[in-house]
Amino acid sequence: MIPITARRLLGIEESATLRISSIAGELARQGKDVVNLSLGEPDFPTPPHISAAAKDAIDRGETHYSPSAGIPSLKKAIADKLSGENGLDAKPGNIIVTPGAKQAIFETVLAILDEGDEAILYDPAWVTYDACIKLAGARTKWVRTEDGFEPVELSGHVTGKTKLIIINSPCNPTGAVYGRESLEMVADIARDKGIYVLSDEIYEKIIYDREHLSIGSFDGMSDLTITVNGFSKAYAMTGWRLGYVHAPKGVYEQMLKLHSHSVSQATSFVQYAGLAALQGDQGCIASMVKEFRARRDLLIKGLNELGIKCAMPDGAFYAFADVSGYGSGEEVAELLLNKAFVAATPGAAFGEAGNDFIRISYATSQERIREALRRMKTVL
Ligand SMILES: Cc1ncc(COP(=O)(O)O)c(C=O)c1O
Repeated sequence: MIPITARRLLGIEESATLRISSIAGELARQGKDVVNLSLGEPDFPTPPHISAAAKDAIDRGETHYSPSAGIPSLKKAIADKLSGENGLDAKPGNIIVTPGAKQAIFETVLAILDEGDEAILYDPAWVTYDACIKLAGARTKWVRTEDGFEPVELSGHVTGKTKLIIINSPCNPTGAVYGRESLEMVADIARDKGIYVLSDEIYEKIIYDREHLSIGSFDGMSDLTITVNGFSKAYAMTGWRLGYVHAPKGVYEQMLKLHSHSVSQATSFVQYAGLAALQGDQGCIASMVKEFRARRDLLIKGLNELGIKCAMPDGAFYAFADVSGYGSGEEVAELLLNKAFVAATPGAAFGEAGNDFIRISYATSQERIREALRRMKTVL
């Protein structure tokens, strides 16, 4: 007889975004020319000075265990960045360097939520938050956003069990960037009811014409905010697995237990690459953002010409397109993949509010975006 596996994981599905990418990859292996617009990673190479720092670190023998929370020089550089750029009262002693921001989110959620607790997510939201909440045995309270996907007032949604609000600006999947007024609204309720806020700022640097604001810098929010960020998107370092979290002491201490008993630490020589990323020339980000902007403009114009409504995204590298004129998001994504070999992610993967949408990543060349638009025109 084969024993059954843990109930804890039964309600959780494989990441939809990774699933679409793997189907697209399989079709490509079969020789199909797939335009993959489902990817959540910059298609640029990691800047050479960052790779060189990792190679140097390997050559110096930085291939052994580091302190669990991270090497002191990197934690100091992160604290300086969070204080200088984000206005946080950041201290190295509140920072854990993690193998990717995803691990930081997982640790935050498990450190805060007990069974039966509730966490608020704005719908649509990145796929992993809900999975982490479920893993903690807690419940997600989905709250619809309004036009433009900005956060709405939360007081009607908060109960005695609400312990966490997760926000993500710039947002995956919508590309929305939250303004000060929206964030003040979230901060007001967090302060009033004593609720933690996890602010996932991984797309902070990929932003067009808008200012990125960190809720952890707002009055009275330093003890309530867990700020997560990382290197994957800003420095094209997805495969390196490097992120970080700044948390108030009580949360930090619980997270560190989880961290040290699970992953132990982020890879030692990769942490030196992170240090080089933060301390080196930031011009590499500006040139990536310039190209992302040109792609965004090309894509949105093309979608609108096809009669697909799509708000102009202010950040990240996703367009969240309303395809209801052609079917549900699932139907259109399936049609595009099977008939046009264009891979996009059904919006429903990000919550019910995404049912009529598909998420299109423009982390691919302008030439491939043009090709995708041409193929979409033939099948839609
Ligand atoms: C909103 C959001 N947060 C976090 C992550 C995870 O990033 P990392 O590669 O650092 O784990 C992603 C990756 O797609 C993301 O889209």
